[in-house]
Amino acid sequence: MTHDIATRDRLIVALDLSSVEAAEALIAKLGDSVSFYKIGYQLAYAGGFPLVEKLADRGKKVFLDLKMHDIGNTVAAGVRSVAKMGASFLTVHAYPQTMQAAVEARGDKLKILAVTVLTSYDDDDLHAAGYRLDVSDLVEARALQAEALGIDGIVCSAEEAEAVSETVGAEMFLVTPGIRPAGSNVGDQKRIMTPSRAIAAGADYLVVGRPIVEASDPKAAAEAIVAEIATALA
Ligand code: C5P
Repeated sequence: MTHDIATRDRLIVALDLSSVEAAEALIAKLGDSVSFYKIGYQLAYAGGFPLVEKLADRGKKVFLDLKMHDIGNTVAAGVRSVAKMGASFLTVHAYPQTMQAAVEARGDKLKILAVTVLTSYDDDDLHAAGYRLDVSDLVEARALQAEALGIDGIVCSAEEAEAVSETVGAEMFLVTPGIRPAGSNVGDQKRIMTPSRAIAAGADYLVVGRPIVEASDPKAAAEAIVAEIATALA
């Protein structure tokens, strides 16, 4: 493991909930067991943006998963607004103009993560969208462009983590969703890994939603994952 990250900070809990009240209730249950939260489209567009600043004020880190993509000027303006909210991570699609604008506008605290190819896309989906490359080639090409443009990290499935970490330099970090502790419900995820296997594959941060959000005891579920990460790192 190349990055010096506090073990607890390696777990990012996805607040995939439909209201700020539901998110606040979960955050209260999780207490000190979780230090990093991801807010995506669902909660952000349901009034969740003020929660970014609130969580940051309480000493929590926030990953704003907005997957931005627009003309460079607009991306830069949006990134500056996100940086002011106090978010720690923001996603953008891995197009060169978008990545360059985001990197230039991010300031000192916000890290920009690139989404190479959405994991719901296979080769046929890419070809239907007008691309000639296959998924693996496009992931590799975009990861290299992201690195060259100074992007801080890559979001990829744990399965891709090994290949991506061989492609990009050690200073970029890898953030992987699709994590399922042994014995938990798979849900709609297709390519899953346990926390310990994901860490062994080179993941720096693990994004976990339903195995914690839907657990009967979310705090115990989060603590078990943090403990598994600690063991995998040891
Ligand atoms: O509930 P679950 O653990 O599957 O949640 C995973 C989170 O990671 C969700 O917020 C989902 O949108 C996100 N994500 C993903 N796969 C990607 C990128 C993001 O599952 N390739």
